[in-house]
Amino acid sequence: MPNRLDLPAGFRWGVSTAAYQIEGAVTEDGRGPSVWDVFAARPGTVRDGHTGAVACDHYHRYPEDIALMKGLGLDGYRFSIAWPRVQPTGAGPVNPPGLAFYDRLVDALLEAGITPLPTLFHWDLPQALEDAGGWLNRDTAYRFAEYAAVVADRLGDRIPAWITLNEPFVHMVYGYALGIHAPGRTLMMDALPAAHHQLLAHGLAAAALRERGLEVMIANNLTPVWPASSSDADLAAAEAYDALHNRLFTDPVLLGRYPDLAAYGVGPDLGGCVHDGDLKLIAATPLDGLGVNYYNPTRIAAPTDPGLPFTFVDIPDVPHTAFGWPVVPDGLRELLTGLRDHYGAALPPITITENGCSTTETSEDQPRIDYLSAHLDALAEAVAQGVDVRGYFTWSLMDNFEWAEGYHQRFGLVHVDFETQKRTPKASYAWYRDLIAAHRAYLSR
Ligand code: BGC
Ligand code: BGC
Repeated sequence: MPNRLDLPAGFRWGVSTAAYQIEGAVTEDGRGPSVWDVFAARPGTVRDGHTGAVACDHYHRYPEDIALMKGLGLDGYRFSIAWPRVQPTGAGPVNPPGLAFYDRLVDALLEAGITPLPTLFHWDLPQALEDAGGWLNRDTAYRFAEYAAVVADRLGDRIPAWITLNEPFVHMVYGYALGIHAPGRTLMMDALPAAHHQLLAHGLAAAALRERGLEVMIANNLTPVWPASSSDADLAAAEAYDALHNRLFTDPVLLGRYPDLAAYGVGPDLGGCVHDGDLKLIAATPLDGLGVNYYNPTRIAAPTDPGLPFTFVDIPDVPHTAFGWPVVPDGLRELLTGLRDHYGAALPPITITENGCSTTETSEDQPRIDYLSAHLDALAEAVAQGVDVRGYFTWSLMDNFEWAEGYHQRFGLVHVDFETQKRTPKASYAWYRDLIAAHRAYLSR
C-alpha cells in the first residue's frame, strides 16, 4: 500500500483560507459591503450572531500568519481576494488601497518562499451587485470578468496560476436555494441561474486570465455519491444527486455541456438562462488544473416526499467530525479515480484545494491528525492508481469564521483566540510541518 511519503516529486504542500473568513477590517481602506456583511448582520442567520467583521484580523496580522506558514515549510498558499475591496460596488473604478493589500500580501508570501494561489471569488459578492440580482443576474458574470482582469493586471506578474471560483455548488445551494448562507435566498431549483451565471463568469474570467498568459483553475466541491441500496429507485436518486452536486459544475468546464437534469424537471437550457454559445464560452479556455475540495461522501436514497428527486441518508458505522460530517478517507481515492474514469483525457491535473476536519474549542486535536493522515494516504493510493494529483492544500491554516456556524467549528492547524487574536499552533500544525519535511527528505534520500 503506498502512503503519503510516496507522493511524487514536485508535489506541492499548502494551506487554504478565504477572505471573509479571516480578514476582518470590513470597513477599512474603502472596502464596500459584501453579501456576507449584510447577511451576517441579520438576526438568526449565523449561530450566536457571529460575523466576519473582525475574524482573524488577518488584514493587519498577515505578516504573523505568513511567518506561521513559513514555519510549516509550505510550497503554496491558497487565499481569496475580496472583490469588494478591489471594486467596492462590484463595478467601475478600482479602490487602490484595497488592491494594495493583496500586493503587500503577495510580496510577503514570495519573500517567504511561498507561491500564492489566489481564488478570485469565495462567496463575498459586493452587496451592490446582489442588489441588482446577484448571481441570478447574467450581468454579474461580465462584471466578474472585468474584476478578474483588473486584479490580474496588478498581480499577474508574480502569480502563475489562478482559481476563478470557489465551490459554485455550495454557493448556489446554500446561498440561493436554501438560504443557509448569504445572500440568504430560498429559491430551491429556481436558483439554477446562479449556477449558470457563475460558470459563465468562470469562462469569461478564464479568457481574461489566459490572455494575460496566466494559468486557470476552478475549485469545485466534489463528493462521491453512494446509493443507499442497489434498488432502482435509490440508484436513480443517486444519479440525480451526482448530476446536481458534481457534474453540473464540472461537465460544463471540461466537456462543454450540462448533465441531464430531467429528474429535476429542467431541460438543457436550465429553464432559459443558458444562451446560445454560453457553453462554448465556459469550456473555451481549457483548465490548467482542477481544484478539488473534498470533505466527505454523500449517501442518497429515493425521495420520501415529492419535491426533490433524492433524499440524504446517514453513513453509518464511520466516525463523524465535530460538524457531524462522516469521515471516509477512502472516499477521496474513490472520488479521484472516478473523475479519471468519467472525464478521461479531458481531465486536467488535479490539486486538492481543500480537505480538513473541524473540532470545537474544547475537543482534542488528534482527530484532525488522524483525518489528514488517512486522507493523504488515500490520496497517495489514487496517485498510485494513475491519477495525476499535483498538490494538497489543507483547510485551513487557522481557525476562522465558519460561515453559518460562526466561530464554533474550528478547522485550523493553528488555534485562534478570537478575544485576543493570539495564534497558537496545534499538534496538527507540528504534524503537518514534520510530514512536509519528511516527504522532502524521503524524495532526496
Ligand atoms: C461539505 C458538506 C457540507 C457543506 C456545507 C461541504 O464542503 O462537503 O458536507 O454540508 O460543505 O458547509
Ligand atoms: C468552503 C470553506 C469552508 C469549508 C468548511 C468549504 O465548503 O470552501 O469556505 O470553510 O468548506 O466548511
